Amino acid sequence: MEKIFKKIIGKAVWAASGDNSQPWRFVLENDGFYIFNLSDRDIPLYNWGQRGSLVAHGGLIENVKILASQEGYETKVNLFPDPDETDLVAQISLEKSEKKREPLADFIRERATNRRPYQNSALTDDQRQQLLMTVDEIGAGRLILLEDPAQRKLAAEASSVNEIIVLETPELHRQFFRHVVWTEKEERAKRTGLYVKTLEMTPPQELIFKLFSHWRAAQILNKLGFSKLVAKSNAELYATGAAMGAIIFTDNRAENFVLAGRLLQRLWLKATQMGMSLHPITGVLFLMQRILAQEVAGGLKPEQVEMIGRAHQKIVDLLGIRQDQGTIAMFFRLGFSQPPSAHSSRLQPEIVNLQKTIS
Ligand SMILES: Cc1cc2nc3c(=O)[nH]c(=O)nc-3n(C[C@H](O)[C@H](O)[C@H](O)COP(=O)(O)O)c2cc1C
Repeated sequence: MEKIFKKIIGKAVWAASGDNSQPWRFVLENDGFYIFNLSDRDIPLYNWGQRGSLVAHGGLIENVKILASQEGYETKVNLFPDPDETDLVAQISLEKSEKKREPLADFIRERATNRRPYQNSALTDDQRQQLLMTVDEIGAGRLILLEDPAQRKLAAEASSVNEIIVLETPELHRQFFRHVVWTEKEERAKRTGLYVKTLEMTPPQELIFKLFSHWRAAQILNKLGFSKLVAKSNAELYATGAAMGAIIFTDNRAENFVLAGRLLQRLWLKATQMGMSLHPITGVLFLMQRILAQEVAGGLKPEQVEMIGRAHQKIVDLLGIRQDQGTIAMFFRLGFSQPPSAHSSRLQPEIVNLQKTIS
């Protein structure tokens, strides 16, 4: 069994995670394994209550289910089995069953964040249907697709407020740039963090980005209005594509973010199978989680808190939901595009065998 578990885990970790933080470790037992969260891996300001990391765990768990089914196992997932152990995200038990063909398994390694501009072609009825079907497959949450170009433009502008906040707030700026991986050599050595080549920047944009990484230079660039220019240019990028998507849950409990991650992963694999690209855009959402919990740290000024609140409200309004009736657990754009010009690597997952440790 150990061999099968390791095989499944080794491929499941190709799930997405905030800044490729891969916030997980595994403990094997007789008929399954425990998945633990590594709470210091992702950017803290974007990870209130580990909500971003829990979305990543959801993607990982969905991959486990798909891969195990293909190996002839049915997966039972027990989320947060021990209330005293908050880092224990799931107990996974595998039971022998029939081997099933899982077409989405073929796309686990191919799935990637694609930050290129997308074509502005509309979704066909069939494509829309196929994407929406993933919600029934998970059996939880809601998926809203925003397709109207004028509405997408407004949602893109609201989402890009995040860039102004990151580039103008020292603590957030420090946390963000600490995770950037600048060269291919560094990417191959570290295998975690936000690899700059996946950001699809033009050479002048990359130069400005590099300058921005130094806080003193960022302060000057900000005075010259560059943070707003970056936001404007990203808003134009975010508005490209066939649709923006939002995954909604009734409330922001931890389990719901894991389920949101499962839904996102299924949708992303399905989109990849259909030849489509996906790009999560989550800064405003996750900063808002912190604001709603009244845990605003990191030197966000009152006017910035207000800016994020307004941007979030705009997205809520465009999606046609009421803020008191739901939590946006994920937000992204979808569309057709050239494949990404670079991919992020993965660390060798940390796997401990409980049996071997005890004996
Ligand atoms: C919860 C979550 C939030 C994310 N937010 C963003 C985001 O706001 N902007 C972005 O460009 N990518 C975002 N990503 C994508 C990650 O940066 C990406 O998954 C990671 O770097 C690994 O790359 P890959 O998806 O190509 O494997 C997010 C991913 C997750 C799981």
